[in-house]
Amino acid sequence: MSWNPVFSSRLGRSSLLLLIAASFTCFSRTVAHSAETASLVEARRGMVVCVNPEASDAGLQVLQAGGNAVDAAITVALCLAVTFPEAGNIGGGGFMMVWPGPGKGGDAIPVPVCIEYRETCPAAITRDSFFDEHRQEGHHTVGVPGTIRGLALAHHKYGTRPWAELVAPAARLAKEGFPVDATLAAGLNKLLLQTSDYPEFRRVYGKPDGTVWAKGDRLVQPDLAETLSVIAADGPDAFYSGAIAQRIVDEMKANGEAITSDDLAGYRANIRQPVHTSYRGYDIYAPPPPSAGGTQLIECLNILEQYDLAKLGSKSSQAAHLIAEAMRRAGCDRVRYQGDPAFTQIPPALVTKDYAKRVSQDLRLDQATRSEDLAKDIKLSDEPPSTTHFSIADGNGMAVSNTYTLQNSYGSRVVVRGAGFLLNNEMTDFNWQPGVTTRAGRVGTEPNVMAPGKRMLSSQCPTLVARNGKLLLVTGSPGGRTIPSTVLCVIVNVLDFEMSLRDAVDAPRWHHQWFPDRLQFEHLGDPEFAQQIIELRAMKHDFGNDVRKLGDGYRRQGDAHSILIRDGLLQGAADWRRTQGKAAGLP
Ligand code: DON
Repeated sequence: MSWNPVFSSRLGRSSLLLLIAASFTCFSRTVAHSAETASLVEARRGMVVCVNPEASDAGLQVLQAGGNAVDAAITVALCLAVTFPEAGNIGGGGFMMVWPGPGKGGDAIPVPVCIEYRETCPAAITRDSFFDEHRQEGHHTVGVPGTIRGLALAHHKYGTRPWAELVAPAARLAKEGFPVDATLAAGLNKLLLQTSDYPEFRRVYGKPDGTVWAKGDRLVQPDLAETLSVIAADGPDAFYSGAIAQRIVDEMKANGEAITSDDLAGYRANIRQPVHTSYRGYDIYAPPPPSAGGTQLIECLNILEQYDLAKLGSKSSQAAHLIAEAMRRAGCDRVRYQGDPAFTQIPPALVTKDYAKRVSQDLRLDQATRSEDLAKDIKLSDEPPSTTHFSIADGNGMAVSNTYTLQNSYGSRVVVRGAGFLLNNEMTDFNWQPGVTTRAGRVGTEPNVMAPGKRMLSSQCPTLVARNGKLLLVTGSPGGRTIPSTVLCVIVNVLDFEMSLRDAVDAPRWHHQWFPDRLQFEHLGDPEFAQQIIELRAMKHDFGNDVRKLGDGYRRQGDAHSILIRDGLLQGAADWRRTQGKAAGLP
């Protein structure tokens, strides 16, 4: 392919022009978002893009003080645990991709790594523990948290500033409080009506005077401030074998649940080699299992590389059809093969070009494949979530792509008594009913059934795209099973459809996950895409009756805070889909 986005003149337009142009597109017409989040911020010495302005600013201050991208990532992750409690966390887990920047002398090709800090199954849980259990929140859904060990491992390998200095901004935000935005106010008010079973949640997140939260109110979290101060002073072990670990164990014991001091003390984060492919000359790096997201993304790209998407055009039904068929196949392979690699053998071929050729042999250009026809050996029976992603680049060539989660919004709803933080409900990412895989989307295949010490399969997919050893794109998203689809859409928008980063993030997104056998499109029902949808329906793609308009716009998929880098210029685009994110740049 001759076009190279690094040198595209389209990307050289000023933020102002982009903003004016954006105001004439359907995206800003249908979804209200602020001028600040809709802009494309440009800077040379550092960029932090995340869902919350206080956290972006805190990360930028770390860069300004001489810290690198990993230092800033630690601060951003901990600040989000304070300011974005629906997904920012110290009681959950995730995946951090690190682009280490130029090697000594500046000429070595950088080798990216994945710091994996996924939660694990407690030792007392077995494969059928939850076969008849349907509650998706509460103490039984908590996996052994990984975030603090993950951040500590990143710090040990790459950090340059003292750990305590990096934790301090989050402790300060918790102690002094911060202004609640409209999304957080609405989220807390909704949850406070539903959480009568969780008194500690109500104590910590209830407004002190008992009224409802409004935009601009101050949320102060003294218990969390104390917890973070202990983590700052005593280091990560405080969380896994010290005073905080004891509080977690007490919380679990008091509610008859499984996590023990041995589970916590034994928790380890891992450095893993990313999965990789080349796509039209670009190098794509994404997390390996226990996230399925990276492998799904790479399988999709390997399938799509066989077709000329650019020629078909971003609004053609043919391009959408191919994207959907790639997603369908990768979604099926996820269910068939993927799980914690320490417990299950995942065929290495899944990420190869040969494999992509093989699985696209039955791909018809004029008709959707029936998901049922891909099931083969998988026996089919009859029968609200939140994560957050941030991207950071410093001025010396290092970058971080990090996605972490509590699983659902506000996780298990369990706040550790006296410690002020939420625990995840990540155990719900295991296949709870071995053997029960349904057309409605329930999955019961072997590779992801529960086992003591096993990591539940994830979709998280923080991604790095490079060309000739130079980093081009840092991206990722929340959205559960839609995550690899969102990342795929952003990547093909930039690489195939030559969109600016702003347009690539704003463009409506596709998703197919095999079962349910249904294609999702963010702007279903938008007259602008009516012809494309008619043609896709004629190819037998099923959209269901899912013409949903939510609030001020269409159904939203993901929240892909991203950075594009060209000639040392960092362009940051905050996604507006979840709340007022911010791209903060150091000029
Ligand atoms: O790890 C996973 O795949 C899920 N726990 C992520 C959940 C999620 O993204 C919800 N977000 N909106």
